Amino acid sequence: MTTPTIELKPTANPLSDAEREAILANPGFGRHFTDHMVTIKWTAGRGWHDGQLVPYGPLSLDPANMTLHYAQEIFEGLKAYRQPDGSVATFRPEKNAERFQRSARRLAMPELPVETFVEACDALVRQDRAWVPAHGGEESLYLRPFMIASEVGLGVRPADEYLFIVIASPAGAYFPGGVKPVSIFVSEDRVRAVPGGMGDAKTGGNYAASLLAQAEAAAQGCDQVCYLDAVEHAWVEELGGMNLYFVYGDRIVTPALSGSILEGVTRDSLLTVARDLGYTAEEERVSIDQWQRDAESGALTEVFACGTAAVITPVGTVKRTSGAEWRQAGGEPGEVTLRLREKLLDIQRGTAGDEHGWMHRL
Ligand code: COI
Repeated sequence: MTTPTIELKPTANPLSDAEREAILANPGFGRHFTDHMVTIKWTAGRGWHDGQLVPYGPLSLDPANMTLHYAQEIFEGLKAYRQPDGSVATFRPEKNAERFQRSARRLAMPELPVETFVEACDALVRQDRAWVPAHGGEESLYLRPFMIASEVGLGVRPADEYLFIVIASPAGAYFPGGVKPVSIFVSEDRVRAVPGGMGDAKTGGNYAASLLAQAEAAAQGCDQVCYLDAVEHAWVEELGGMNLYFVYGDRIVTPALSGSILEGVTRDSLLTVARDLGYTAEEERVSIDQWQRDAESGALTEVFACGTAAVITPVGTVKRTSGAEWRQAGGEPGEVTLRLREKLLDIQRGTAGDEHGWMHRL
């Protein structure tokens, strides 16, 4: 596999310091983008080439671009954090790079070398480092690497040309309420992914498939939809864009990877962080009936959602399609949830030791 070097092109009209600072004061999620982006091309027979760091701007796509028709698209999400000494570090970028390769394989796309993925993210963060929010708060710089087919044509087959891009967006809390508990609607009829399908790949199609159920959750007054497995409609899988954890006192449990669950980097990191803090952390199948029963009996003390964008967000209320409804931890953020959240954020913000070598310093 060829590894392109990334060339720097001159910046066109970056925002002024004052404009950027105004955005950083209240970035929201995914609303503002930094001054640059990285692009790398792939062509059959030639491999990866033409890595460039260019001003952020629109793409020009032929109407017959294959992604627009057959959705060969994959993406990632990772964050850069301002450290106490003013430097910047990203969190486990190699994990995202490896998942990006797995997603590429599933969608018959070329695999970007891990070091090229990391170098592309580094190049963008280095160039736009003024966009990394100040140390200490909830804010970070969210990186969105993605790949689309760039070939033009309507034949259904893997494309012969692709475009890898990294963009960056300053991010505050994913949910407007911050750490306020979210409400979950358990969709017992719609499914997100099926065995043998694409559920463990990070591809836009999975998110498109989640939108109707997400809208139905919103119509029920809930913030997020939770999916069950597609065969028995019994086993808890994940939310529209996040993994789930169940807290049983000092034991935490996340649904075991089933092939149709996305293997979240935050999910994986929390198994380790929880063990470091003395909790037992396990991956197991959890049924929706068990969830309801254990919540009602009090054995299940807390539930939280986790993901790069959402970090760790407590679950407050749960509603099933059948009409059953219950509250978790009295509808308040639970103690274990908050402890895990603080520990993970402390590692990411550089205020706790990085015992596992997760921070990638730039
Ligand atoms: C993330 O947590 O990075 C995600 O990809 C979830 C969502 C914003 C799509």
